[in-house]
Amino acid sequence: MNQIKVLAPATVANVVCGFDCLGFAIAEPNDEMTVRVISEKEVRIINHDHYNLPTDARKNVAGAALFALLEKAGADHGFEVEIKKNIKPGSGIGSSAASAGGAVVAANRLLNDRFSPLELVDLAMDGEKIASGERHADNVAPCIYGGFTLVRSLNPIDVVALEFPPMFVTVLHPQIEIVTAVARQMLPVQVPLKDAIRQWSNVGALVAALSKGDYDLIARSLEDFLIEPVRKTLIPHFDRVKLESKCAGALGGGISGSGPSIFMLSETEEIAAKVEGAMREVYKNSGIEFFTYVSKINTGGVKFID
Ligand code: HSE
Repeated sequence: MNQIKVLAPATVANVVCGFDCLGFAIAEPNDEMTVRVISEKEVRIINHDHYNLPTDARKNVAGAALFALLEKAGADHGFEVEIKKNIKPGSGIGSSAASAGGAVVAANRLLNDRFSPLELVDLAMDGEKIASGERHADNVAPCIYGGFTLVRSLNPIDVVALEFPPMFVTVLHPQIEIVTAVARQMLPVQVPLKDAIRQWSNVGALVAALSKGDYDLIARSLEDFLIEPVRKTLIPHFDRVKLESKCAGALGGGISGSGPSIFMLSETEEIAAKVEGAMREVYKNSGIEFFTYVSKINTGGVKFID
């Protein structure tokens, strides 16, 4: 076996109150990636899409993650990776994490699963850093693990896979681009203690609610006092989308990662479809192109195919 094909899922980072620590994977869309061993000690990138992503592997998210893995493995060979991105870069649903996560999971299989999922999260962050300017794992962890994850610590890396009840996610993707690195630079360096207390109370409550399947508590915990007030200014009609989605029955939601996508969690597929209708109603006369979709939560993370 010298080649592996995988599907790497989109992810929603932050999950409203858990900036840089909470995230979950969604069933659709997925990037398609094929990784193969090559004898040269290098990484080659072949893009099969129109996003013009770098083919210089050191500047490419998947390439940087693969270099990190090759170095840690002390390998005397390289990898070639073919990427078909179905997750638009800059959309806020973990496009870079899918490239990095898919690449390391596939390459690891070619190395007979030498590294654990936790180690792969650590390696994939080297790729994520290319896109966002910082190592953060709240997209790569759910991409690799599937479901909901909490990143307790980056150094040393510590990821907790969370239990969660059946839910559906509705995503609104306005066709504007927000560069994660820019959306990070606008955040406050310090926050008032009273806001921090409200924030970590919500994170704790959300984790408990997910594990108990307490939908009312999930809804009450999806509040963000730190990040959303700053970043929502980048997303037209954010407050109305949120309000109308909740009126349509959503448990709650907010900015997906650093945006511009907005996500909403719902208890059933029927409610998630109503939420989709409510989102479309808000955006239909906005003059901004947009996509919406309803997805299940991905379980299992990156999937091997063929
Ligand atoms: N936690 C990161 C951020 C996720 O919000 O900047 C980026 O997708």
